Order: sequence, then structure tokens, then C-alpha cells
Amino acid sequence: MTTAADYAEFGAREARGISPSYERLSTAVAGDDELLGLLARLPPAKRQPNLLFGVVRFLGGPVDPPAFRRYVIGNWTVIEEQMRARATQTNEPGRCAVLLPVLAALPPPLALLEVGASAGLCLYPDKYSYRYGEHQLGEGEPVLECAASGIGPPARLPTVVWRAGLDLNPLDVADPADLRWLDALIWPEHAHRRARLRAAAARVAADPPLLVRGDLAEDLPALAAQAPAETTLVVFHTSVLYQVPPPGREAFVTAVRTLPGHWIANEAPDVLPLPGLPAPPDDALQNVLSLDGTPLAWTRSHGQSITWFGPVLPEYHH
Ligand SMILES: C[S@@+](CC[C@H](N)C(=O)[O-])C[C@H]1O[C@@H](n2cnc3c(N)ncnc32)[C@H](O)[C@@H]1O
Repeated sequence: MTTAADYAEFGAREARGISPSYERLSTAVAGDDELLGLLARLPPAKRQPNLLFGVVRFLGGPVDPPAFRRYVIGNWTVIEEQMRARATQTNEPGRCAVLLPVLAALPPPLALLEVGASAGLCLYPDKYSYRYGEHQLGEGEPVLECAASGIGPPARLPTVVWRAGLDLNPLDVADPADLRWLDALIWPEHAHRRARLRAAAARVAADPPLLVRGDLAEDLPALAAQAPAETTLVVFHTSVLYQVPPPGREAFVTAVRTLPGHWIANEAPDVLPLPGLPAPPDDALQNVLSLDGTPLAWTRSHGQSITWFGPVLPEYHH
């Protein structure tokens, strides 16, 4: 796809109905030869809308298309430097709401290992609370809302005794610059996601996970070997594999399948093809939630909804 087509697609399929300002902005960039010319100086993987928009907002720039255009042209040197140095590492604790029904179905106690963990905010599913329609679960902040269909919400939170994350570039919620970057990656209208980032970051800072710098395929076995005995190892990942070139995805799947325990994936269907998927519930972008390679549900990308189509899983008493 060309960069113009990427921006047009981002506006039409990702931002539409979710972030009107980013929808306007991506449509404007898609039709702007001068901005596209600047983006062409970057390697293809660094031209994405989320990275450009996040960097401009990190630097204090505007999102209104004409002002954004002037800002980008006038400050391109620093924007380019930041786009080369940074990556889209959006860490969305809301995704715990779609992981929870699967975690509740695994024998406790759990040892969680997240690959592509960013700052590790998804490693605390047992510490947050949840609202699935009328059903509320847990006490802690933030409260994660999720529309669930085809499945009843879990009765209890899982028991987690170990948590570790692997990332090419782990972020530290206790570092103000890292927290500011995570904040800039949240789309402008999403005040609720900004509030939940703060609440989740406070939880994580109070009891930080083991975060290891490394590659999700090469360095997985050594980190998994550190999980305590007598626990169920759960390797999981959400919205990560689209950033990994296909040979790396294959190496990861091979590595994870040789480990003991379980593997939960929450990824777009084109980056992790799985057999027997039903039609998605609508034409918004959806991830597929799977357990050990068996697809279970469609999920919205920030954990807003889960549409279960897989077999009913047993629930353990955590
Ligand atoms: C979009 S973020 C998602 C973070 C988190 N999983 C979540 O859902 O909130 C993707 C993360 O994957 C990491 N990543 C990308 N390629 C990786 C690789 N080969 N090995 C380890 N981490 C990787 C990135 O650094 C980034 O932090």
C-alpha cells in the first residue's frame, strides 16, 4: 500500500466514529503531496499515522488540519528525528477486559508472560475492575468497560503470582517522559483512556513487573524458564504481531508452541491467520482472541467489546 492509501485507510477504518480529529487529519494527509513527500524520507515502517500524530502531539503541536500542516512543515527536522527514535507502543489496559474470560478458564495460580508488553499495563488483569454491561467485577482502579456478547462474564478475578514482560523497548511508567509518550499515543478525544492510563500506571508503579528488553521469539524461552514451578505459564500478546515481520511471527509461534502452559493471542486476523473464523460482527477493525491456536472471539482494538463464537470454556475457582 502507498502511504497515501495507508492514511486514507486509517481514517476510514480505524479513526472513523472513534476519533473525528484523526479521521479528518488522516484524510487531509492522504491528499497532501507535500506532507507525503516529507514522510517518504522515512523508512516505510516509520510513516504510520499513529506515529506522526503521536509525535506532533508529544511535541505540543495541533491536530486541526491546516495548523497541523503548517506545524509539520515548519518543524519537520525535529519531527523526523522523533519519528525515527520512537515507536508506536500504545499500552492499553482496556485489553485486559477481553483477556479476562480466558484467564479465568486456566488453572490457577497463573504466571503471566506478555510479549510486546510496552510498559506492562496489561500484566495486571487481576488488579483492575470490570463492567460487562450490568455485571461488575473487582474493586480496583481503573474500571474497564466492555460490551460482551455470546459469553457470560467471569465470576472471579484470576490469581496471578508472577508477571513478566518482554519488549524490544520496554517503557517505564515511573519515567515522566515515557508516560508522556504513552499519553501522546492516546487519540485526542479519548479522555477516558487518558484517565485509565494514569490509574493503571499508578498501580503498576506501586508494584512494577519484571520487564526485559528482548525479541519476542529469540528471548522468550529464557524468560519463560524463570516462571515459578507449580504455576500455569500463560504467554500472551495483544496488538503486537502487526509490528513483527512475517519470519519473526513464524519464529514466535514455533517458540511459544514448544513451551509448557498456554498461549493467548489477541491479534488482527491478517497477521495471525487462524482456521474457521466466522464473519466479524461489523466492519470495524477487530482482533481475534485465541487460546492455544483455537479462535474464540472477535474483540475491538481497545477492549471495548468481545463477541464470543468459540466453545464455552470451563471456569476455575481462582
Ligand atoms: C502496540 S504495542 C502493544 C502493547 C501492549 N501489548 C498492549 O496491548 O497494550 C506493541 C509493542 O510490541 C513491541 N514489539 C514489537 N516488535 C517486537 C518484538 N519483535 N519483540 C518484542 N517486542 C516487540 C513494541 O515495542 C511495542 O511496545
